[in-house]
Amino acid sequence: MSESAKLSFKGQDYEFPVITGTENESAIDIAKLRASSGLITLDPGYKNTGATKSAITFLDGEEGILRYRGYRIEDLAEKSTFLEVSYLLIYGELPTQAQYESFSKEITHHTLVHEDIKKILEGFPSNAHPMGVLSSMICALTAFYPDSLNPNRTEEEVNLSIIRLIAKMPTFAAWAYKNEMGHPVNYPDNALDYCSNFLKMMFALPAEKYDVDPVVASALDKLLILHADHEQNCSTSTVRIVGSSQASIYASISAGINALWGPLHGGANQSVIEMLEAIKADGGDAKKYLDKAKDKNDPFRLMGFGHRVYKNFDPRAKIIKKAADDVLEKLGVNDPVLDIAKELEQAALNDQYFIDRQLYPNVDFYSGIIYRALGIPTDMFTVMFALGRLPGWIAQWKEMRENGEPIGRPRQVYTGENERDYVSMNKR
Ligand code: SDX
Repeated sequence: MSESAKLSFKGQDYEFPVITGTENESAIDIAKLRASSGLITLDPGYKNTGATKSAITFLDGEEGILRYRGYRIEDLAEKSTFLEVSYLLIYGELPTQAQYESFSKEITHHTLVHEDIKKILEGFPSNAHPMGVLSSMICALTAFYPDSLNPNRTEEEVNLSIIRLIAKMPTFAAWAYKNEMGHPVNYPDNALDYCSNFLKMMFALPAEKYDVDPVVASALDKLLILHADHEQNCSTSTVRIVGSSQASIYASISAGINALWGPLHGGANQSVIEMLEAIKADGGDAKKYLDKAKDKNDPFRLMGFGHRVYKNFDPRAKIIKKAADDVLEKLGVNDPVLDIAKELEQAALNDQYFIDRQLYPNVDFYSGIIYRALGIPTDMFTVMFALGRLPGWIAQWKEMRENGEPIGRPRQVYTGENERDYVSMNKR
């Protein structure tokens, strides 16, 4: 028997269907709310509002659960690879050996980018933030593949765009870094796996031989898996709403990169390290910064802490924290900010302000410490987040398109001036 929800307004009763998902989440279907009652809802930041039905990622903020297409994030981080997880998110099932080989071969075949992209890259000053360079180069793909602008492309044509995105994103990411360093760019090496190829494009120099450290490549692969999707977060919602206007997948992903850039979202991993460095430079007094974070008159927030959905430990943070210890030990890296991070975490977890607000470390709190140990510079951390999130954005864009969802266009409650007559300049 289907459930319903009743609303009483100005003496009139209204009833709306309640839909329940496969994990027993329930939502009031308000599609007929305005037509029947004249009312709309208001929910800044969409804290209580579902934008869509999705079969890709399930997370339970209270229980600290995260699953991609039903598979536990803990299992995928331990047993899978980033390309296999990308296939799972985009096509819905874990690939067979043949499907996986075909998928990774196609991606390898498309890693090279048009030489004219280098002219765009060279137009950026070396102080350009790599996220701006990355989103620009991804959007530039609309110029090199204008067929992507056609909203009525076949599934095969859309799939080629998907392959091109996954294949070329590491190249663009590494080139954004080389632009910043003033180094010549490296071309992809198709003999290498996905993460090793990225690391070589990032760190190889013409004057020296470069061998990829398998420990680094493996740690990077795990980090990309952990960032691969996270249901309707800010950047994913951006990708879906831009795609809902039938903008090309390249334009939609470029918009997602820009949304991720903000320090409250993916940019937090860069802000966490900058915060930890500042605490270290200021004598390492974790409690002083905890007090700043609690002071309403101080704009300082404990970056890497808190989450819109997780009101328990972010399961990714738990995995990354353990990986940080493992990777730093294997690489023989001793990073004092890791100790400050752990001290800050312990202090916050035992502080009433954080307990009352259910603020726990999120995915960004420890990830930067690993990126740093892998030799990745701080302002490339959010680029790494984008590299990981790409298959999730693609899967969500594809689902939105396949479900034939309408163009996203929220309503508002107007609070401005009522009607008034124009006043000529000499009378103002
Ligand atoms: C990501 O949505 C996703 O899934 C995102 C993500 C993904 O995978 O896509 O998980 C990735 O973006 C992780 C979050 C990274 N951002 C940060 O670490 C920045 C610091 N965190 C916050 O700014 C904040 O916690 C948010 C933005 C993450 C969540 O903000 P909400 O849900 O809008 O919560 P809020 O700002 O309303 O905070 C509720 C209360 C407030 O206090 P009161 O007004 O109730 O007294 O908690 C306080 C906030 O001031 N608070 C913090 C805090 N986070 C929230 N206080 C100090 N330090 C913090 N970090």
